[in-house]
Amino acid sequence: MSERSIRHLAIIMDGNGRWARERRMLRIEGHRAGVSAVRSAVEHCRRRGIPHLTLFAFSTENWTRPALEVGSLMALLDSYLEAELDQLVRQRIELRSVGNVDALPATLAKRLSRVENETRGLDGMRLTLALSYGGRDEILRATKQIVRDIRLGLLSAEAVDEEIFERRLDSYGTPPPDLVIRTGGEQRLSNFLLWQCAYSELYFTLVHWPDFDEQDLDLAIAWYEGRNRRFGCVDSTCRVRPAMRSATSG
Ligand code: FPP
Repeated sequence: MSERSIRHLAIIMDGNGRWARERRMLRIEGHRAGVSAVRSAVEHCRRRGIPHLTLFAFSTENWTRPALEVGSLMALLDSYLEAELDQLVRQRIELRSVGNVDALPATLAKRLSRVENETRGLDGMRLTLALSYGGRDEILRATKQIVRDIRLGLLSAEAVDEEIFERRLDSYGTPPPDLVIRTGGEQRLSNFLLWQCAYSELYFTLVHWPDFDEQDLDLAIAWYEGRNRRFGCVDSTCRVRPAMRSATSG
């Protein structure tokens, strides 16, 4: 894998609501159109040989949306997982999730667990869905685990380092994102993978998620390939902890 290859692409899929409003449609129609864009992004990443793709599908803050929209989104996620299982298996895509799954409706949590189990170990690509996910929530949950392990005498406070902390994150086992794409024109992380994005390249596009197609993805990747990643060093030969520099690790 070359220095510039993307090992992990993460996407903040924004702009569904505005896409719908521009067409005088209901917001849920925007989310529904967003599902087609999800399918095409997954297939394109798989074709391009990107090993890890993470999609921000529902944030901890999204629970504050109107109940009708939340319920519709949960139903949409459930039907996506139901419809997609065969396709994931055929394409050898392993599905994972990050986030507080305990907060999800029982039917969705059960479906998710089933799809995770049936795709476990598939080696074509790993697709991670961030569901009921917040970076701060993930960091807090990891911190509580560390405190608990110290109290139980399983860990000493002095021993806690980045590696030990990362083991308690939902994303453990997936390298940090090389590139984060945010569609819809906003330029912020919105609580997405806060720990993991320390050295990610950030790409923002005005295109709303339902319109984001293969050409848009190729443009973002081409932009990434032109970046000079230094990880705080003065040139590309500096030594960085492999976990930080996912493109050259493993
Ligand atoms: C942000 O757009 C998008 C979401 C909160 C939900 C994303 C969900 C999907 C793309 C569909 C289901 C996902 C999968 C993985 C099958 P927004 O509603 O905030 O848009 P706006 O900023 O224009 O209002």
